[in-house]
Amino acid sequence: MKEKIFLTRTLHDFALKELKKKFQVEIHTGKIPIPQSTLKSKIKQVDGLICFPYDQINKEIIQSAKNLKVISTFSVGYDHIDTKFAKDKKIRVGYTPEVLTDATADMAFALLIDSLRRISEGDRIIRKGKWRQIYGAYDYVGLDLQGKTLGIIGLGRIGKTLAKRAKAFDMKIIYHNRKQISKIEEKKLGVKYTTFDKLITQSDIISIHVPHTKETNQMFDMKIFKKMKKTAFLINTSRGKIVNEKDLVVALKLKIIGGAGLDVFETEPIKKNHSFLKLENIVLAPHVGSSTKETRIKMAEITTKNLILGMNGKKPIYSIGY
Ligand code: DGY
Repeated sequence: MKEKIFLTRTLHDFALKELKKKFQVEIHTGKIPIPQSTLKSKIKQVDGLICFPYDQINKEIIQSAKNLKVISTFSVGYDHIDTKFAKDKKIRVGYTPEVLTDATADMAFALLIDSLRRISEGDRIIRKGKWRQIYGAYDYVGLDLQGKTLGIIGLGRIGKTLAKRAKAFDMKIIYHNRKQISKIEEKKLGVKYTTFDKLITQSDIISIHVPHTKETNQMFDMKIFKKMKKTAFLINTSRGKIVNEKDLVVALKLKIIGGAGLDVFETEPIKKNHSFLKLENIVLAPHVGSSTKETRIKMAEITTKNLILGMNGKKPIYSIGY
C-alpha cells in the first residue's frame, strides 16, 4: 500500500505525476487557505504534507498528525510552520530558497521603481479618464532613482541581489544585517554597512529582507516611521507582520513618510475595505514576489524533491531543523 500525502493546494502537472507514481495523493480543492479544522482532520492519517505560506502549520496541527514524516512548503519563508515543534517530533521540514532569489529581488525593485515613478498611480489616472489633468510641468512628477540612498534591511540572498539591481541604477546602497559581510564582498556589491538607526534616518528608500521572527515582528511602527525621512519610501516583499499596518496607514495619510510598495500584508488577502485601498501613495501587489512561470516551476521541483527525500527518511535538499 502506497503512503499517503496531502497537498493544501495543487501543484504543476509534472510534480503531481511524479508524486502520484510514489504516493497516494490527496489535494485540497476547496477554500484557500484550507480551513484549520479541515487541515487538522486531513493531516491525521497522512505521511507527508505539501503546504503554502498562507497555511498555518502550528503546534495543534502538527500534534494531530499520527504518521507525519515530512512537511514540504512551497516557499522560502517558513514562519507559518512551527519548525521547532516539528523538529521535536522528528518531522522533517523542507523549503525552497535560492530558486526564487532573482524573482523576489526583481519584485522589490519593481515596487521601488513603481513607487518613485508613480506607474500604478498613472495607470489609475488613465483608467479614470483624468489624463488631461496632469499635463502641467510639475504635475504628476516622480523621482529619480540615480543618486538616491537605498537602505537594505537584511543582506541575505535576496538583499544582495537587490543591491546588484540598485547598483546598475547608480543608487547609493547602505545595509544593516546581523553580521557585516566581508569588505571584499561589500566592495563587489557596492554596499556600505551601517547601524539600524542610521539606515532608518539616511535612506530615501528602505527595503525589508529579513524573515518574520519574534525579533522582527512589527519592527516598522510609528516610532520608526517618524525617524525616516519625510520623503522616504518603504518596500516590503518579505512578510507583512514585520510592518505595523495601522501605523503605516497613518504615516502615509499624514505624509510622515513619502510612500510604500508592498507585496506582503499582515493578513492576506487584505480586506475589501482596507485603508491602504484609499491611499494614492502606496503600491500594492498580491504577494507575488516569487510568481514567475520559471521560478514557480523550480519551486515545484524543489518542493517535490524535498517531500520525496523526507518520505524516504532523508534530509530535504533545503531543510530546516531536523
Ligand atoms: C515565499 O516563498 O516565502 C514567498 O513569500 C512566497 O511567494
